Formats: sequence, C-alpha cells, structure tokens
Amino acid sequence: MRTIIEPFRIKMTEALPITTRGAREGHLARAFNNVFLLDADHVTIDLLTDSGTGAMSDRQWSALMLGDESYAGSRSWRRFEQTVRDITGFKHIFPTHQGRAAERILAATRLKGGNVVPNNGHFDTTRANIEYVGAVASDLPSAAARDLQSEKLFKGNMDLDRLAQLVETEGANIPFCMITVTNNAGGGQPVSIENIRRVKELLETHDIPLILDACRFAENAFFIKEREQGFADRSLLEIAREMFSFADGATMSAKKDGLANIGGFLACNNDDWADDFRNLLILTEGFPTYGGLAGRDLEAISVGLMEALEYDYQRYRHATVDYVASALIARGIPIVRPAGGHAIFIDAAAFCPHLEVSDYPGIGLVNALYLEGGIRAVELGSVMFGKPATDGGGEVAAPHELVRLAFPRRVYTQSHFDYLIETLDVVWRQRASIKAYRITEQAPFLRHFTAHYEPADV
Ligand code: F0G
Repeated sequence: MRTIIEPFRIKMTEALPITTRGAREGHLARAFNNVFLLDADHVTIDLLTDSGTGAMSDRQWSALMLGDESYAGSRSWRRFEQTVRDITGFKHIFPTHQGRAAERILAATRLKGGNVVPNNGHFDTTRANIEYVGAVASDLPSAAARDLQSEKLFKGNMDLDRLAQLVETEGANIPFCMITVTNNAGGGQPVSIENIRRVKELLETHDIPLILDACRFAENAFFIKEREQGFADRSLLEIAREMFSFADGATMSAKKDGLANIGGFLACNNDDWADDFRNLLILTEGFPTYGGLAGRDLEAISVGLMEALEYDYQRYRHATVDYVASALIARGIPIVRPAGGHAIFIDAAAFCPHLEVSDYPGIGLVNALYLEGGIRAVELGSVMFGKPATDGGGEVAAPHELVRLAFPRRVYTQSHFDYLIETLDVVWRQRASIKAYRITEQAPFLRHFTAHYEPADV
C-alpha cells in the first residue's frame, strides 16, 4: 500500500477551538501580536512545539495506574531505570523533571568559567545552562547545514575539522563535548552513526567525554535506518543502542521521544560524575529514585521510550512530515531541506522578499498563519536570536529568518495537516501583504516569549 496510515485509532477526543477570522484578529491584538501570549483555547492547530504536547497511548495511560509513589526505591523507578539502561547501556541513571534540569546538573557539576563545550548545535536551554556557569557554548555544525536548500542526508552532523582544531587549541579546557540528536537548532536534521563514531575517536585522543543530548534519539535512529549504509536491517532499538555506545553520558527530555508530557533524565558511566550528579539532584530535584517526577510519570516514560522505537510509529511520523513538506515544496514555498524529524522550518526571509530583516519577516509570517487559519507556529529568527549591536546602534540579525512548524506526536491527523497546507497555500499566494512588525516592548533576555509588537508600514 502507498498510503501510510496513523498506526493507531482514537478512543478519546479533545475538542479543537474553531474560530472566525474576526475573532482571531481580536485575540491577536489583545496578545500584542505575539502568539506566545495567546490563550491556547484560541488556537486551532498548535504547532508551537513538539515538547510535552504528544498524546499518550492506552498502554501509557494504564501504566499510570501502576505508579508506585514510594519516596524511595519505588517499583516504578526500577522499571524506569531498567528501560533506560536497556536502551542506553549507561551505568548511572538519574530522573529529572525535564531536559533542562539534566543540563543544569551537568553544567553546574562539570564546568568552570572559561571552559568550552562543543556541540553540533546547542539548544537554547543547553547554551543558557553552560553560559550561566561562565563557560562557552561552541556550535560546530557541518558545512552542509549552512545551505538551507541542499538535500544532504545528515545535515545534523558535527564539523569534524573544526572540532579537531578546537580540541587541538583548547584540549584540556573542554570538560565534555555534546552531540544533539536530532539537531533541533539546525532544523531537526539527523546525525549519522559514522559522525558520532568519528567524533568519539577524535575526543578520545584528549580523553574528552562525549555526552548525547538525546531528546529525539528515536527519530534520529529512524533516519539512520533509512539513510545510512549498513543499517537498513537493524531495529531502531539496536540502532539507538549503537548511538549511545559511543557516548559517556546523556541528557534527555522525555517530553519528546519519551512520548510523555513531562520528564527527563541524566545518565553517565563515570562513578565520580555520578556522585556529583546525585548530590545536586537531591538538593534541587529530589531523591535519586524519583528526581522531580511522580512514580506514575516514570511509568509513562518507561512505556513511551519503547513506543518511540516502534518502526511503524516512526514511519508514520516521518511520512507525515514528508507529506506536508512535499506539498509545500510543490507550491514553491521555501523550506529547509530535507525536512527534519519533528518540524518543518520555513525560510521567512525568502517567503517575504518585500520585508527587510529589521521588519521581522518571521513574526509577519507567524501572525499571518494565525489570522488565516488559527495555526500557531514560532519564529526562529532575529527576534529569538538577534542581539543588540555592540556599537549601540540597531541589532545584529540572526543568520536565518526561520519559522518552525513543530509536529506534536500522535496528536493531529492527516486532515489537520491538509488544513495546514491549505492555510499556507493562501498565505503564500497573498505573501505580498504580510506585514512588517516593530517591537514596542521587550525583556532584556529571551525577549521572544513576552515581547509586544505592532504592525508597521514598510
Ligand atoms: N535539548 C533539545 C535539543 C531540545 O529541543 C530541548 C527542548 C531541550 C534540550 C530541553 O528540554 O524542554 O524538557 O527542558 N526543546 C523544546 C522545543 C522546548 O520546543 O524545541 P526541556
């Protein structure tokens, strides 16, 4: 069969708000033209993030009832530990309330001011946790990632030459190196096993440990199975084990490939690191056998991690992203190619050639999508990543003006995505009318969450 169906049926529904254009105009104006400030009840299709927004399965919901809420040594913890160990092979495993809590403990215990942490692409919370302790977060994406249109298969790879140079010059000043699978900041692009293996070989020459940011490890495993020579006949679980086998530890947000609404973990093999992690975990998250989570959350994650590795699930998920991506490409809509695992990134600068970077084309496109179809996307451009110029005049633009459409897991059906395509089709045909925006109010950092905007004449 050519049609790849959702490998589940639905036995509980959640009503979607259906709104009129007039109502949406009022909602957006009251939200100061910032979709982060909208009431979710006024959003029809919410593609703001794939984090914690997935639907749990019947197996996960029934596992919740098995949650053992003992403070210490609970049955749910044992099950969680066994599942994570089965997939990752790590000796020490610490549950955390979400991914950034794992990052914070890693950064606070292992880094000092002036240290350098290389990564194929730091996610913003990872970067912030590293910078918070005075260390430097260095992004080393492969050259292929810089060309948004090139159809290279592993655009999430780390640039090995630049890593070699950095290791040569900074060597002892690099307490660990990270690889993010898939590379969210770079468009959800995958990293090959070969790249992970070669990064590890390079780091070994200087005894530098490798940490995987494993949020989307199962999506990355699927890309490896489909795209990397020698893996077509391997199961996703086997591929995931191989990915983790090169790493000395991992940070994980279970809100992505844990198929859970909350949770995460930190893992490592080194006994001394584990002692430090445990001590800080007790101080800030909780006792090591629950670490900021309820027993029932640990149960839901244990089931979810394994469900994320089911081939039919991943095949359907990737087919959904590909379905939308090819419909957009067929209309000439400029997107980052090939499409990522969890999201489609639209090139808003190319979408709106009538706008300057200082007109924030990403905000214009995000707002047009909301007004046209009640769809919520997110700007990843000069509002999120732009910085005030050091000479005091104006701003330094981000390298790209992107808009992300993130795909929550198992939430929307094909007709929802047809509706998304239709909305984008209308917005694309009327693109010359997409407005410029000016910021009227902003916070000193992470301004995109709370900024106020107003439309401006170009
Ligand atoms: N690492 C990556 C690659 C991520 O994408 C995220 C979260 C985190 C770490 C932090 O995990 O949210 O559980 O604390 N990304 C979400 C997103 C928020 O929308 O891409 P967390």
